[in-house]
Amino acid sequence: MLTRRELLATAGVAAGATATAVALSACDPSPPPAAPAATTGAALDPASWDSVRAQFALTGGANFVAFYLASHAAPVRAAIERHRAGLDADAHGYLVANEQRLDEAVRTEAAAYLRTEADRLAFTDSTTMGLGLLYSGLRLRPGDEVLTTEHDFYSTHESLRLRGVRDGVTVRRVRLYDEAARADAGEIVRRLRAAMTARTRVVAITWVHSSTGVKLPVRAIADAVASANRGRAEDQRALLCVDGVHGFGIEDATPADLGCDFLVSGCHKWLFGPRGTGLIWGSDAGWRRYTPVIPPFGGDATPGLAATPGGFHSFEHRWALAEAFALHRAIGPDRVAQRTHQLAAALKDGLAAVPKVRLHTPRDAELSAGIVCCEVDGYGAPDAVLALSRAKVLASPTPYDPSYLRFGPSILTTEADVEAALRAVRSL
Ligand SMILES: Cc1ncc(COP(=O)(O)O)c(C=O)c1O
Repeated sequence: MLTRRELLATAGVAAGATATAVALSACDPSPPPAAPAATTGAALDPASWDSVRAQFALTGGANFVAFYLASHAAPVRAAIERHRAGLDADAHGYLVANEQRLDEAVRTEAAAYLRTEADRLAFTDSTTMGLGLLYSGLRLRPGDEVLTTEHDFYSTHESLRLRGVRDGVTVRRVRLYDEAARADAGEIVRRLRAAMTARTRVVAITWVHSSTGVKLPVRAIADAVASANRGRAEDQRALLCVDGVHGFGIEDATPADLGCDFLVSGCHKWLFGPRGTGLIWGSDAGWRRYTPVIPPFGGDATPGLAATPGGFHSFEHRWALAEAFALHRAIGPDRVAQRTHQLAAALKDGLAAVPKVRLHTPRDAELSAGIVCCEVDGYGAPDAVLALSRAKVLASPTPYDPSYLRFGPSILTTEADVEAALRAVRSL
């Protein structure tokens, strides 16, 4: 069976392509066909948050919604433009010459960022696509049970519901805390462990809840799942699957640190990677129980390649992921985590001191990340968002019932932005 790359190379030869295109065959490491020079932003000083922010083209206001869908940093914009120009000039030639090298660069950069092996990484268009693929492709039998929680996003719940409709897998939900602000790590683990049964084959959780900002103690949950698995045959064990999108790009934690079997994330939120990109990381044990859903075009030499959907993609965005990971590594994942937590803590401290505000996100950094949710007496979340926007403070309402006012302090916000947000909330 030929991979797409081999097909492309063959097609180029068969069509009597020019000597240049033939020379630039799949395995040829020659440089890409000339593409226009890319526009770059100001040189990055990774030690300066002003310089980091200057890489982005965000306009005005204290932007606490930048995580919702990423703004592209200058190196990402430049890479997208470079690839777009190359594809527009000669898509076939550009692919033949560059696809393998650029796919590899993305895999290498992503693996370096996650401190993992590239073989374990599959690439997707979004968190939702990753969750849909994962929960469709895990091998389960009728009567097997998936345990998820009341706190996950629609994409997890709906992927699992559809799986149940398809082949009779049972899906159950557990509530891990009653009040987000008083969430307790020990109780979360106990409730989850108590809800597992001998039939539980998948535990589907979300690292940071977009409804409340609660961050789950994933490592402790992984340890509890491991203890439940002790003595079980491999195909009877529960796999721990995590929607990681609101921790990914903030927390300096690798999949190995988390101890999960699958980590699914979009790269277009807190990582500020190209819009329309995402990934699935799987452990060896996890991938052994996964059957690909969409035919891969990159071969099946590794589990990650086999799980990466084939077909053509918006390649200019996919390939610019390498620059997004490189930017984060240049800044330092530990500094990104420290900065995001510092701003979130300042915002939470300030909000907690406003009498008419009820803060829902835990103050404890072990139980929270960048998302900060609250309610303001007398204001529904959409009204509060509107009122804040008049003061040039951009926040969003959570898409849940009840809906909360949600802030996302990030590496694109400043201490002054936090102050502006607090002033605006106080004035409501
Ligand atoms: C927890 C969670 N998972 C997944 C998603 C969807 O992410 P994507 O747009 O990358 O599919 C969201 C919200 O957008 C979310 O809050």
